[in-house]
Amino acid sequence: MQIVSSSAAMQRLARKWQRAGTHIGFVPTMGYLHAGHLSLVQRARLVVGKAGKVVASIYVNPTQFAPTEDLAKYPRDLKRDLKSLRELGVDVVFTPSDGEMYPHQAGSGYSTYIVEENLSQSMEGAARPTHFRGVTTVVAKLFNLVLPDVAVFGQKDFQQAAVIKRMVADLNFPVRIIVAPTLRERDGLAMSSRNKYLDPEQRAQAVILYHALQAARMAVTKQSISAERLHADLKEFITAAPLARLDYVSFFDPETLEPVKQVAAGTQMALAVFFGKTRLIDNAQL
Ligand code: PAF
Repeated sequence: MQIVSSSAAMQRLARKWQRAGTHIGFVPTMGYLHAGHLSLVQRARLVVGKAGKVVASIYVNPTQFAPTEDLAKYPRDLKRDLKSLRELGVDVVFTPSDGEMYPHQAGSGYSTYIVEENLSQSMEGAARPTHFRGVTTVVAKLFNLVLPDVAVFGQKDFQQAAVIKRMVADLNFPVRIIVAPTLRERDGLAMSSRNKYLDPEQRAQAVILYHALQAARMAVTKQSISAERLHADLKEFITAAPLARLDYVSFFDPETLEPVKQVAAGTQMALAVFFGKTRLIDNAQL
C-alpha cells in the first residue's frame, strides 16, 4: 500500500492508471475509520475488481467545519487507519495536508468554492450553513486529484450523498456515485466517528435516534400521517431520553429532498440530536 501526501504525485499516479485503462475506485474519508468506512472500501474493491485500484483519502477538511465546530478536536488515529486499510488491500491512501489542499489559504485567502444551491439548503445545510460548500469543494478537488471512475459514500450522510450526486451531474464529473448502507452498532446506533465523544450515559441514550426511525416506520406502515403530528410525537419520544436535545426531524422526498406534508411508507426521514456538544445524525426510508 502506497501512502501519498502530495497532490501532484496523487494526480500523476491517477493519470498513469487512467492511461493504462485501469479502473479507479475511491472512498473519501476524514479518518478515524470504523467498520462503516471499511465497508465502503470493500464496496469500492468489489466494483473495480482485483485489476482495478482502490484509493482512500484521509483528510479532515477545515472548510466544512464552522469556526464554532469541533475541527481541532475531531478524532484522529492515522496509524490505526493505515493498518485497517492495508489489511483490506487498499492500493493508495491519499493523506494531503492543509497546505496541499488549500495552498493559498494562509495569507492571501483561498477563493474558489463549489456551491450546490438547492438540495444543500435544508436540514444539515440549515443547521450548518457553510458545511456543504466545504464538502462539495473538497470532494471536487479530490475527484480532480484521484480521477476516480467510481466513488463510494455512506447512506448515513444521506443529504451529503444527494448533494454530491447533484454536483457530479451538474458539473459533468465522469464519476459514478455509489451510496452504501449505514452500518450499525449492535443496539442500532449508526456507526460514526463522533460516537467516540459520547460518555457512557449519552452512549446508552443515543440509540433513541434509531428507535425514533423505527417508531416512525411503524406509524406509517398501515396509513399515512401528517408530518406535523408525527413531528410532535417524535419530539416527545426523543426528548424522553433526558440527555437528548432535538435539533431537527425532517420528512421529505428522497429524490428532491422537498419536505412532505403527509408522511407515508417511502418517505425519507432524517434527524439530528445533540448529546451534550455531540451532534448525531441518522436517516431512513420509512
Ligand atoms: O463524509 C465525510 O467524511 C466527509 O464529508 C467527506 C466526504 C470525506 C468530505 O470531507
